[in-house]
Amino acid sequence: MDKIKIRGGKKLEGKIYISGAKNAALPLICASLLTDETVTLTNMPMLSDITAMNALLKELGTDIDEFDDFVDGHNTKTYSYRTKEFKSLIAPYDFVRKMRASYYVLGPLLAREGHIELSLPGGCAIGARPMDIHLSALEQMGVKIEIKQGYVYGDVQGKLKGAHIILRIASVGATCNILMAAVLAEGKTIIENAAKEPEIGDLIDLLNAMGAKIEGKDSSVLTIYGVEKLHGAQHKVIPDRIEAGSYAVAAAITRGRIELLNAQAETLQSPIKVLRDMGVTVEEKEHSLIVDAQEATLWGQDIMTDYYPGFPTDLQAQFMALMLTAKGASMITENIWENRFMHVPELMRMGANINVHGHASAIVRGVKQLSGAPVMATDLRASFALILAGLVAEGETIVNRVYHLDRGYEHLEEKLKGVGADIERIKEPD
Ligand code: EPZ
Repeated sequence: MDKIKIRGGKKLEGKIYISGAKNAALPLICASLLTDETVTLTNMPMLSDITAMNALLKELGTDIDEFDDFVDGHNTKTYSYRTKEFKSLIAPYDFVRKMRASYYVLGPLLAREGHIELSLPGGCAIGARPMDIHLSALEQMGVKIEIKQGYVYGDVQGKLKGAHIILRIASVGATCNILMAAVLAEGKTIIENAAKEPEIGDLIDLLNAMGAKIEGKDSSVLTIYGVEKLHGAQHKVIPDRIEAGSYAVAAAITRGRIELLNAQAETLQSPIKVLRDMGVTVEEKEHSLIVDAQEATLWGQDIMTDYYPGFPTDLQAQFMALMLTAKGASMITENIWENRFMHVPELMRMGANINVHGHASAIVRGVKQLSGAPVMATDLRASFALILAGLVAEGETIVNRVYHLDRGYEHLEEKLKGVGADIERIKEPD
């Protein structure tokens, strides 16, 4: 298993291109299953989660073409997806186990074929992650659901029926699945308390480009008028706000200055406010964000994670690393996932001063200096927090389990090297 070696202490300066958003791309890929025509996605990030989703679609019968592309000033991938007909309606355990987002095939398969067998994903490192909201919404649309031997069996007699669905929690995944089911359902579906994350807006844009009729983008009430058939379309994936936020912290933690090219400031208002309140200068440009902490003295701030447009849980770990280098104390409250402080014990091994209260709150106190150590994390964002700590730690940090990072950060070492980090990947056989 590969490792990443960092020697801390370099001020990061320069420009980083922000890639297409992983969490937008995954449901977009599955939306292609709703038509027998070709759906082309540009600005796709090169990530192992995308490869895993592509493998699942191939298993279902999708033909996929891959092209090297150059979008918004950087090398990227374009993929064309065509599912003329399905070879299988089963999302097997081996695929879902590797990537939970495999459950995005649920809505499309039920809408187009009226049947699915989906291995239940189960819990993961950050929480129990149930699917009750997805399943109860689909039942309201006429799906007969049965759970046996670790699989969800879904069947529809005739067509899915439009329904008035009120979500218990504004779940990102459930909102995507219901949208993808409702576009081909009979009649009108209303989703109340829908998630408003920008990745949902991106999915709505693709679905509407494919001929769907969805109203209410960016609001918590979505209205979907079912149509007979969807057609092919071409769509450019939005920039990754979590990747942008992560590199914004890399600039701040090293007291450097990085321009984040293609970052969309409007999707990052909550983390930008925290950075500014801490003492970091953030300049919002039309197609980039400049994060400058060169002359700054940083002060701790309190953060509470929340649904969009609140502070994203996917940046909590990275900001915790940053708070360790600020003056004073910060309180971090995690409101989305029940087990998302797994990075704390690893940061402590690097000299952090963090007190966790219960499972949702942590007091972080600034320390004089972190020190390098071998560390490992149990999820993607926590792993990036360790990279950030390594960038300012004295001496050498080895981050193990790099496969987490490869799921969500495209060209991580190249991007950080390009702004002056002393970082390298140590290749090791699995
Ligand atoms: C998406 O997960 C993201 N994943 C996560 O990013 C992100 O942390 C999360 O949204 C919140 O923003 C992808 O987009 C692939 P949810 P998702 O359904 O859709 C509870 C990353 O690092 N819930 O909005 O699975 C759930 O347990 C990943 O890139 C139910 O109780 O999140 C959680 O507490 C990690 N029942 C809350 O809702 C359900 O049926 C929000 O979950 C569904 C969810």
